[in-house]
Amino acid sequence: MFVFTQYRFVLCALLHLAAGGPAAQRRPTFDHFRRPGFATTQQSSTTSVAATVAQSSFQVTASSIPSLKDAAASSIQSSNASAGALPPVAASIGPVINATLTKNWGITRDGGGGGTIDGTHIINFSDTGADGNNAFVSNSIATTNTNGTMLTDYGTNYPMQQWPFEPDEVAASGLRIAIWPNTNIVSGCGGTCGYTVSNVVDVNLTAPYPSTMIYSTLANITLKSNNTPSVERISAQMWKPNETNYGIYGLARARDGSDDIYLFAAPSTADSGLKVAKVAEASIADKSKYTYWDGSTWALTAPSANDTKSNVFSNKGGIGTGDIFWSAYHGRWLAVFNDGLAVDDTFQVTYSITEDLTGVWSTTPQSLFVTPGCGNGCTTPWNYASHAYPDIDPSGRTLLLGWTYNAAYTSFATITWT
Ligand SMILES: *[C@@H]1O[C@H](CO)[C@@H](O)[C@H](O)[C@H]1NC(C)=O
Ligand SMILES: *[C@@H]1O[C@H](CO)[C@@H](O)[C@H](O)[C@H]1NC(C)=O
Ligand SMILES: *[C@@H]1O[C@H](CO)[C@@H](O)[C@H](O)[C@H]1NC(C)=O
Ligand SMILES: *[C@@H]1O[C@H](CO)[C@@H](O)[C@H](O)[C@H]1NC(C)=O
Ligand SMILES: *[C@@H]1O[C@H](CO)[C@@H](O)[C@H](O)[C@H]1NC(C)=O
Ligand SMILES: *[C@@H]1O[C@H](CO)[C@@H](O)[C@H](O)[C@H]1NC(C)=O
Ligand SMILES: *[C@@H]1O[C@H](CO)[C@@H](O)[C@H](O)[C@H]1NC(C)=O
Repeated sequence: MFVFTQYRFVLCALLHLAAGGPAAQRRPTFDHFRRPGFATTQQSSTTSVAATVAQSSFQVTASSIPSLKDAAASSIQSSNASAGALPPVAASIGPVINATLTKNWGITRDGGGGGTIDGTHIINFSDTGADGNNAFVSNSIATTNTNGTMLTDYGTNYPMQQWPFEPDEVAASGLRIAIWPNTNIVSGCGGTCGYTVSNVVDVNLTAPYPSTMIYSTLANITLKSNNTPSVERISAQMWKPNETNYGIYGLARARDGSDDIYLFAAPSTADSGLKVAKVAEASIADKSKYTYWDGSTWALTAPSANDTKSNVFSNKGGIGTGDIFWSAYHGRWLAVFNDGLAVDDTFQVTYSITEDLTGVWSTTPQSLFVTPGCGNGCTTPWNYASHAYPDIDPSGRTLLLGWTYNAAYTSFATITWT
């Protein structure tokens, strides 16, 4: 639900799915229809998870979390264009693999988006079930090893809920409140914390389980001494549905030596453009300190969602989930994302022609990789929650991609660039 604040996409997707409708109409963001019965209150509930789930082949291994210390931060400052060909082209794509989980809890979940905190790569997830233990939480966070594909969860017998609910976030009857992270985490505090944005949603408990974004929320994530992630919601209610949801599409650090953080939004409009706001890290929770790219300058007021001048780039197929990051290898900003209305689970790539985030950007995103969907016969034939994890290889030579497979499993593949 993250990037598309319009739940009509989900509704369309679900209705068309139910009707066996054309795949072109689908574009779920999070897909919750296979898990109808969760708690309407906060905290980790132990309500039964209805999904029938094939277990992944778990590999229980001593968790090793090598240091990626400040790798992301140092890559940010490395400046010159490198060997990477433009437009970026995949020389090879590694095999599609499932995440290897170090906890054998029968975990199913969707969502994604990660970053590096204290040298540890972490990934946020949404609605998380632990079928072996009959548990369900609104979100979870796992830490990963160097190659990013082995995930360690935290909790006892099932992943703990990481994003806390506010005391007033109590669902109305027939609804449940959920926090569904699906956005990257930008490193902050000189590497020891990270910031990210998630939507807080009302989910109707009646099929087809439509959800409505209530507001977004801004988190400051740190790691406790035992490496357990800790999420503090430093702006409990950030953007309302009537506002452009800056940050929900991703966050990145500026490269001009300032302490600024960029916050991206991709409001669903006719021309599907990417918009960006900027704020000093220390003021990230203070909307009054934000400025907004209007096409020529950083303005004090946000452009309207329909304004095209302020688009950093646009994609007529829409901009679904994805990530925008500086590639040291290409010496350019890259955007790796899924079409808003794609039918083929395709990762697209586009890039800035200059070293500036605000462009000019290449006008035509290129198809990068078509991920194999689960196909007919699966509850959810398509993939979603597509993400790139650039901090896994700060050199930018390779890029780890991840997505949600069959609404329950996290799959990965690694691109090696030409
Ligand atoms: C990932 O796990 C699911 C569930 O076990 C399985 O159906 C799928 O084939 C796996 N994918 C890969 C690439 O191993
Ligand atoms: C960037 O390019 C300049 C001029 O070509 C060179 O002097 C400098 O060493 C390069 N910096 C890096 C980090 O490669
Ligand atoms: C990533 O690391 C895990 C654990 O060390 C290993 O099992 C897996 O094969 C690695 N995957 C890749 C793509 O290197
Ligand atoms: C949930 O959806 C059902 C069916 O669309 C609708 O009748 C009901 O009013 C909704 N409940 C709430 C609390 O919005
Ligand atoms: C959006 O609505 C809220 C009230 O929910 C209001 O405070 C805010 O000013 C509105 N924003 C815009 C841009 O209209
Ligand atoms: C994020 O958390 C860290 C650790 O508590 C703190 O030092 C930092 O000031 C916080 N950042 C913001 C913007 O609140
Ligand atoms: C954007 O344009 C659509 C029609 O193209 C219109 O319905 C909508 O009200 C506009 N939104 C804003 C915020 O101007």
